Amino acid sequence: MNAYEADLAYIHDTGFTRFVNRAAPGLLRLLWQKGIRKGLVVDAGCGSGVWARVLTDHGYAALGIDISRAMIRLARQHAPAAKFRIGSFLDAELPNCDAVTSIGECVNYAFDPQSGLASLARFFHRVYAALRAGGIFVFDIVEPGQAPNGEIQKRFLEGPDWAILLEVREDRKRKMLERRIVSFRRTGTLYRRTEEIHRLHLYTSAQLMAELKLAGFEAQALSGYGRFRFAPAHAVLVARKPAAAVLT
Ligand SMILES: C[S@@+](CC[C@H](N)C(=O)[O-])C[C@H]1O[C@@H](n2cnc3c(N)ncnc32)[C@H](O)[C@@H]1O
Repeated sequence: MNAYEADLAYIHDTGFTRFVNRAAPGLLRLLWQKGIRKGLVVDAGCGSGVWARVLTDHGYAALGIDISRAMIRLARQHAPAAKFRIGSFLDAELPNCDAVTSIGECVNYAFDPQSGLASLARFFHRVYAALRAGGIFVFDIVEPGQAPNGEIQKRFLEGPDWAILLEVREDRKRKMLERRIVSFRRTGTLYRRTEEIHRLHLYTSAQLMAELKLAGFEAQALSGYGRFRFAPAHAVLVARKPAAAVLT
């Protein structure tokens, strides 16, 4: 499965960063509310580095991890004060940190062949171990109920120098979402066609809350980041390592 290669990374960066831009004020407020006003934030699935840039502009150190080389290339340009690593956050070494974030359904993606609930649960344990007491782990998810079972939904999206044909199909039995993305990006006077298929595991917030608690976190589910409210079947999970953390 290809994962945000050069053209789709460019299209994501120029056309689909509204989500993270709308999420950022609420995310910053969450950090402040939890007393995290400085320190290191690890962004798992950092994409083109929009959130990492907001973090460094607000005095945090940021480490972004992404499986897409093309996304990391863009991130290094957008957030030069942050550090970045190419790789899967599911098995990346995590430094000691004050917060971990993952914005834009990253934990749902099946790009990494080892992805799935068991692997995600192991990741939650590793995040817990990396966080300082009182540190937080914030991420958003897409849940089952995106599309009628088996039915293919088609959409067309465009920008000044690109267009996307999108097919979305949900398999309720396998709890998977599939997005077939045919993209056209202008290069000179022509448009280059590329195709990616993104598969996502669909988890419920209750399922992931249970795993977070098993890892030792205090967790709550929210319906958006601050004033930015989500459509149904999406959620934000906020997990806090207790101040007097119990060793697991
Ligand atoms: C929808 S994009 C969101 C990017 C960015 N957080 C944003 O909000 O603009 C999902 C990102 O997660 C990354 N991703 C998915 N699975 C990953 C994994 N196992 N390890 C690292 N990155 C992953 C993708 O490459 C992609 O950049």
